[in-house]
Amino acid sequence: MPGLAGVPAARSAVSDVDGQRGVLVYRGIRIEELCAKSSFLETASLLLFGRLPAKPDLDRFVEDITRHRRVKYRIIDLLKCLPEQGHPMDALQAAVAALGMFYPGRNVKDIDNNYWSAVRLIAKLPTIVAAYARLRRGDDHISPRDDLSFCENVLYMLSDRVPEKVLSETLDICLILHAEHTMNASTFTGLVTASTLADPYTVVASSIGALKGPLHGGANEEVVQMLREIGTPARVRPYLERKLKANEMIMGFGHRVYKVKDPRATILQGLSERLFKECGTSPLYEVALEVERVAADLLGGKGVYPNVDFYSGIIYDKMGIAIDFFTPMFAMARVAGWLAHWFEQLQENKLFRPDQIYEGEHNRPYVPIEKR
Ligand code: ACO
Repeated sequence: MPGLAGVPAARSAVSDVDGQRGVLVYRGIRIEELCAKSSFLETASLLLFGRLPAKPDLDRFVEDITRHRRVKYRIIDLLKCLPEQGHPMDALQAAVAALGMFYPGRNVKDIDNNYWSAVRLIAKLPTIVAAYARLRRGDDHISPRDDLSFCENVLYMLSDRVPEKVLSETLDICLILHAEHTMNASTFTGLVTASTLADPYTVVASSIGALKGPLHGGANEEVVQMLREIGTPARVRPYLERKLKANEMIMGFGHRVYKVKDPRATILQGLSERLFKECGTSPLYEVALEVERVAADLLGGKGVYPNVDFYSGIIYDKMGIAIDFFTPMFAMARVAGWLAHWFEQLQENKLFRPDQIYEGEHNRPYVPIEKR
């Protein structure tokens, strides 16, 4: 089955998608409810441990994350050595792989150790992302501030300013929406690595590699590039018609599972409207609305509608985040889902070793080089 479409790769209780009705649940709770009532760290705790945390448990988890946000200066030095033109996802992947060398507790059967690995990864990814964003433009990195919330601190480390409430609240919802999504390519990649009993830093580094691709997390970058290229609503229809005629994909549209509009895209659209009302509109938004209208006309018949990447880029763009940092923002949320699946995988681990359909030859003679 190409792309393993429709083939279950694991049993999981982390999340579920109904692609026909556009419903996504984390541990049974609808994503709309979590976005309205929860926070990213509470949602991460729900994903990792299977239930909404009681107040003391949540306080402890938030405290643990807050205390582990700093990264070793050698990781900062490593980031300083990377080329400024390099992609931030490559920098993040390298830094996360290197992170594991500082925490050599390799025994993944040690539950306590696994908890602290999960805490470190969730806590440190934003620090690495923000440090690379600043270092590559010649600014010094900014250490995390313990008095700031998770999302306030992310934006503070990026910009050196404590953000307005609307920005940190918007980011918090974006992170909830990106935290988990069943057996997607990066989660599956992580599980394959986890099944070898590799350490969690290697698991997450491999997931980051899979997330980078334009058919997965990388699509949000291309959406904003496309909207900028189109420029005005009037140019949308000819642009899309030209693309489709050339058999090119419209980025931010279509999904292996959803055959209706991705519920995360609906929430992000509402979120972007609130953000633009409070912080001034974005010219990209009018173009995006027209793309959605025209694409529904041209592609709706195939069940192709906006996915999570369609509106997230517009929001990050409005927050002043550089285009190539959109996918790292995705990664700092999705790490919660990757780790939740890693916990599950370890409970009943079996090495992934699928079969293949061999289409090559047998009994071929070895021809000496002078006779080929
Ligand atoms: N633009 C134009 N046509 C599309 C698009 C699109 N974005 N998505 C699907 N289609 C068409 C296909 O060409 C196909 O047409 P056909 O039946 O005439 O051949 C039909 O719709 C069915 O699509 P499939 O390719 O079978 O869907 P698949 O599940 O393989 O692809 C995928 C899903 C890879 C996400 C695809 O929709 C795509 O490439 N989208 C653009 C990239 C993107 O936005 N990726 C982000 C996904 S969300 C995420 O990973 C976080």
